[in-house]
Amino acid sequence: MLQAILKKFDINNKELVIVGAGNVATSLIDTIALRNIKPKKITIANRTYGKAKLLAEKLPNIDNILKLSELGNTSGDILINATELGGSATDDVFNEDIVSKYKGVVDVTFKTENTNLTTLAKKLNIVCSSGWDFFTFQGKVFLEDVLGIAINVEILKKYVYEGLKTNV
Ligand SMILES: NC(=O)c1ccc[n+]([C@@H]2O[C@H](COP(=O)([O-])OP(=O)(O)OC[C@H]3O[C@@H](n4cnc5c(N)ncnc54)[C@H](OP(=O)(O)O)[C@@H]3O)[C@@H](O)[C@H]2O)c1
Repeated sequence: MLQAILKKFDINNKELVIVGAGNVATSLIDTIALRNIKPKKITIANRTYGKAKLLAEKLPNIDNILKLSELGNTSGDILINATELGGSATDDVFNEDIVSKYKGVVDVTFKTENTNLTTLAKKLNIVCSSGWDFFTFQGKVFLEDVLGIAINVEILKKYVYEGLKTNV
């Protein structure tokens, strides 16, 4: 996921607001630390506050934790949805007031090409990276690992998008 984000954004010295405290959020925050990338601030907002608290105890690069209901009271440079909202769960969280506070938006869900979140970002002219981009980069990493050759992400993206359009 980090590769998909870095393709669009320089996250060094930026304030990241990550919604979610599950596998994707954990892996992202951990990889940011492993790669020695230094955002200015990492905030996580999660539906289950206790899970966010446990994660912050485990990962020292998390600066701030919020209840999901407090998301509207915060802001930052990049908003990252690392939950099922907009995918298998109906998105009743992201709205124009929230999204307009950010310069960049990242989504992970891939049930559709344009989720509520990415649609709002595009409407507000905010740079965004979608769950389909994330999916493409996962494929790139996997193929490079298996085949041992560099994969052109733009060519792969074309096929991944065609495949997702047909099958999702
Ligand atoms: N694009 C890709 O290639 C790709 C790859 C992997 C995963 N994903 C997507 O990433 C998302 C997260 O995956 P994961 O493995 O991190 O899942 P996970 O470990 O089960 O974590 C799920 C997260 O979503 C939150 N959540 C779930 N339903 C919610 C709702 N209705 N309202 C608010 N928060 C909700 C959970 O909050 P609680 O802690 O409160 O339960 C938790 O923070 C999934 O949608 C998955 O499909 C995409």
